[in-house]
Amino acid sequence: MSETVQDKVDFLVIANRLPVDRKIDDEGNVSWQSSPGGLVTALEPVMQRKGGAWIGWHGAPDEVVEPFHHDGYDIHPVPLSAQEVEEYYEGFSNATLWPLYHDCVVEPVFHREWWDAFQKVNKRFAEQAAEQAAEGATVWVQDYQLNLVPTYLREMRPDLRIGFFLHIPFPPIELYSRLPWREELVEGLLGADLVGFQTPGAAANFLRLAKRRPGVTASRGRAHTRDGRDVVVRDFPISIDSRGFHELATSEKVQAETAKLREDLGNPETIIFGVDRLDYTKGLRQRIRAVGELFKEGKLDPHEVVFLQLATPSRERVEEYKILRDDINQLVGQINSKVGTIANRALVYRNESVPREVLAAMYQVADLMLVTPVRDGMNLVAKEYIACRSNDDSALVLSEFAGAARELKQAYMVNPYDIDGMKATIMKALTDSPKVKARKMRSMRRQVFDKTIDVWADDFLTELEGR
Ligand code: ADP
Ligand code: F6P
Repeated sequence: MSETVQDKVDFLVIANRLPVDRKIDDEGNVSWQSSPGGLVTALEPVMQRKGGAWIGWHGAPDEVVEPFHHDGYDIHPVPLSAQEVEEYYEGFSNATLWPLYHDCVVEPVFHREWWDAFQKVNKRFAEQAAEQAAEGATVWVQDYQLNLVPTYLREMRPDLRIGFFLHIPFPPIELYSRLPWREELVEGLLGADLVGFQTPGAAANFLRLAKRRPGVTASRGRAHTRDGRDVVVRDFPISIDSRGFHELATSEKVQAETAKLREDLGNPETIIFGVDRLDYTKGLRQRIRAVGELFKEGKLDPHEVVFLQLATPSRERVEEYKILRDDINQLVGQINSKVGTIANRALVYRNESVPREVLAAMYQVADLMLVTPVRDGMNLVAKEYIACRSNDDSALVLSEFAGAARELKQAYMVNPYDIDGMKATIMKALTDSPKVKARKMRSMRRQVFDKTIDVWADDFLTELEGR
């Protein structure tokens, strides 16, 4: 494979973010770090396998970065000004669409100037793709930040095959209808040949909206557009590189890391683990409250049990994320001041991102994994735990509001809003017989190793290329 950047490519991924973020420290030193979130975790192995090009923002405002070759594919950084980061990314993407699409768990904010910036930046991504795509190329647009790209790109390059995949939930019509720009956003997606969602419910929500557009009809998983095209609308539940995670978790390096981690945590009998971006959709408040109460009530003994919670800082300048960060710090402080000792902290909370090997070690030592979002498109953490943890005496507590709950049916299901119910389920997951737990783990392992990221990408691209 060529090591130089190609002029035109047959396969393109466009996502708001590149798989790596450019970081510049106070002394002006530049470094590249893996970007956070499920989208990158899922798509990196696909790109390594297929080659082509990835178009995305490199994570630093007001910086122009030249294209470069990385891990078998080309990277084309798209520049964003500081004002665009504020209005398109933090504003419209993450303070308007993100909460709206996650059932309005916090109030979405609507600003007309954010919408202007959203259109402008989507156009820039589309232009960059139009420039890089070879005649008849396949272009795969990712996620809500680029909702308008399919239609812009079709106008510029009608020869392309355009797919769109939404990594997050798609809300019911009653919530979606609040959006002042709902028509434009639905039209934006109808520019694609194929629109994929995480669940059948999300696909159905979109089809209901699409057929309200004048001149658009919908039947059997297709929308028929005014200009005579058929857009296939379907669910494609995303997954992970399960074998890659498993091999990493069982490697010598990670085994050594595992032993050290256990030691650092004070060699407790039981380790409970949670790992998320620090996001209000992840149900962190509810989860920490539930575990905290179990410690306070003496149902969990801090001499025997440690709850390790990792939270990657995320979208730190968006108001609701600031509020969440302060709330969680306060909650953790309150719990640790009431239970445990300095030597035996009940709750070990780290507000940081860790390298993949360290994360794999954490999954390996976790006897119980807590994944309790109040709403989540899929949640890859749940699948990563199943792929990494090789001990059968393990348990996954999973929110019924995560897309993953449709597949990991053997998990201990919870409604994160029901704190007492969650506490009871956590205790059940900790005390069920090894036989019951082993049966559940084996069944979920089968699911995660059958339906891998390669299966997901092949399903999507086969459907798209057949269009
Ligand atoms: P989202 O896409 O909303 O962030 P997912 O659970 O689907 O949620 O994906 C999160 C991804 O980010 C997973 O691959 C997970 O391993 C990774 N991740 C989350 N928190 C951390 C962390 N603190 N350190 C390293 N990786 C993390
Ligand atoms: O997986 C959902 C998602 O919003 C991705 O689109 C995104 O890259 C990831 O979470 C992390 O969020 P952000 O790019 O805003 O840091």
